[in-house]
Formats: sequence, C-alpha cells, structure tokens
Amino acid sequence: MPNVLVLPGDGIGQEITPEAVKVLEAVLKGRSGSFAFQYGLIGGAAIDEAGKALPDATLAAAHDADAILMGSVGGPKWDTLPAPERPELGGLLKIRKALSLYANIRPVKMSPMLVDASTLRPEVVKDVDLVVLRELTGGLYFGEKGRKTNPPSAFDILDYSEVEIRRIVKMGFQMAEKRRGKLCSVDKANVLESSRFWREITVEIAKDFPDVELTHMYVDNAAMQLVRWPSQFDVIVTENMFGDILTDLASMLIGSIGMVPSASLNGTKGLYEPAHGSAPDIAGKNIANPLATILSGALMLRYSFNLEEEAQRIERAVEAVLADGYRTADLAKSGDKVLGTREMGNAVVEALSRI
Ligand code: IPM
Ligand code: MG
Repeated sequence: MPNVLVLPGDGIGQEITPEAVKVLEAVLKGRSGSFAFQYGLIGGAAIDEAGKALPDATLAAAHDADAILMGSVGGPKWDTLPAPERPELGGLLKIRKALSLYANIRPVKMSPMLVDASTLRPEVVKDVDLVVLRELTGGLYFGEKGRKTNPPSAFDILDYSEVEIRRIVKMGFQMAEKRRGKLCSVDKANVLESSRFWREITVEIAKDFPDVELTHMYVDNAAMQLVRWPSQFDVIVTENMFGDILTDLASMLIGSIGMVPSASLNGTKGLYEPAHGSAPDIAGKNIANPLATILSGALMLRYSFNLEEEAQRIERAVEAVLADGYRTADLAKSGDKVLGTREMGNAVVEALSRI
C-alpha cells in the first residue's frame, strides 16, 4: 500500500495540509490498495515537541515513505535560535538535502477564472503557462557560510558541481520536450563564474535535444521579462537562489502565491509542498488559501504515483470551484464568495463528486 508521510509544519501549514489530505482521500476513495497517510513533525513544531527541526524519526519515516506532503515551516517564535537550528535551515533545507531533492518544479499556470485577480493587466497575464525548474540542493543555500572578524564580515559561497548542473538542466530539456519545446536557462553569466560554467554545460547538453529551443537570460532581465511578457516562457531552469526569487515573483502573475504548488524530486522520491511560507500573520484564523497545497497533492499523484487521471481530477475540481465564484481572502474581490480554509477544502471535495 502506498505510504505518504504528511508533515504539516508550522503556521498555516497546520491548516492547509489537512485540506490537501481530505482532497486526496476523496479522489482516491474506492481505489483498491488505497493510500496510508502517516504524520510526522518538522520545523518549529518539531523543535517544540522533539527538540530539533528535523527529528531522526521524521527523517527515517521520510526515507521509508513513498512520498511526502508538507505544509510550511518557520515563525517568529523560533527566529532567535541560532540559524542552523531554525525551522528553515534545520528542518526544510535539511530534509531537501538529506533526500537529495535536487529538482523543484513550480508550475505557474493562469486559471481563466483568476485573470482579474492579478495585479498585472489581463492581456499580459491571461496566457501564462510556465514552469520554473529550480535547482534545490546546491548554490548559495548550501555553500560554505560564515563570519570573519577584523574587520567583521560574512560570506556565503556559491558553488555548483558539474554533476549538479547537468542533472537539473537535463531535466529542464526533458520537461520542455514534453511541453512547448522552449527552455530558458536563467543565470548571471555576465558576472558569476558559476553561471558561466552553468551556461557551458547547458550549451553542451542542448546538442542532445535538437527539438528544444534553448535561450539564455540574465536573472535581472528574466525578472523584468516575467512582468513584461510572461507568456514568452515555457520552461525556465535556474539555480537555487534565482529560482527562489523568480518563483515568488512569478506567483503574482496568477493572482496569489497561494496558487503555486511544488514538487521536489530526486528521481525516485518526491516531496510536495506549496511554494509559499508559513504566513504566521494569518495562521490559526482559517483564512489561508489551501489550493497550492491541494494542487501539490495533485502533483504528488502525477509524479510519485503516475495517477495522471486523478491528478487532473483535482486540478479540474479546483477550476470548478473557482468558476463557481468561490475565493479565499487572498484572491477575493468584491462580489466574490469568500471561503475559509476548511470551507475551500470542502468545496474542492464537493466539486470532485461532480467531475
Ligand atoms: C521556498 C521558501 C524556502 C526557500 C524558505 C522557507 C527557506 O522560500 O520554498 O521558496 O527559500 O527555499
Ligand atoms: Mg521562496
């Protein structure tokens, strides 16, 4: 029986994860050999209950699980801890690294229902359908870091091995091949040596993918192009930090970061989480948008279990709920029917029964 480890984490993670589980259970109902959901601790919740952000039991369960569904980690309560112990570094980054989840897929696709929810003009955003493939276990996040004295300074090293670049860029080409055949590699090759290395390897890999149109773009220009003419992009492949920044930016094209799911893969196992954080300011109020997590559940069915039909049913159910005029607060405009977190989860389950 497939075994899914659920890690709600902190803040709104506690509220949005149960909604995704609810939707997964509804879409999988009646399947023989159905799924088992197990729960574990990560982040601040794990610090409070087990003394560290990624307890050994969680890591062991993650190794055993077929897939992991995660909420979000972090919050002001743990911000004063030494950085390596905090929920972000000691929990999230640690599990990504421990499981070698090097490929982070973040689809940014406009729902026809949300064209008006974006802060950008409808004609700019209406055809947005892109994927950011973010390298997730290298670069600045994981390079050597530290402080020096006399004079006081701090450093973070940006280091990429050939192997790390090759595997993510190759995945970018494979993904582009299955989509509209366009790959944009985003770097800062006019300044950074690691980017020049990245570009050399990318050009070499391109020879194996003659049907994919490869372009290179500096990250500053990519930020500008994403708001200027986002529909020019199909697949964007980029290093860890650039991918972090560009995906927050790209999320606003489709109305809310509460709509962007993600899959973090290592070739055999996947961790699925929304692209947003734990939003401590709105936690515990039943107002967070659970759709990014629900859509991450769809990615889990697609990438970990090859259940494409069920994945699409979840995606269609989300569309149906939006088409009925239901919105969480982050997306709502006057005239919309505003739902809380739980009610939005229920609405998706209800929509599944007619899809
Ligand atoms: C993300 C988040 C994380 C990251 C934080 C919480 C460490 O912003 O998944 O994009 O920077 O990777
Ligand atoms: Mg981020």
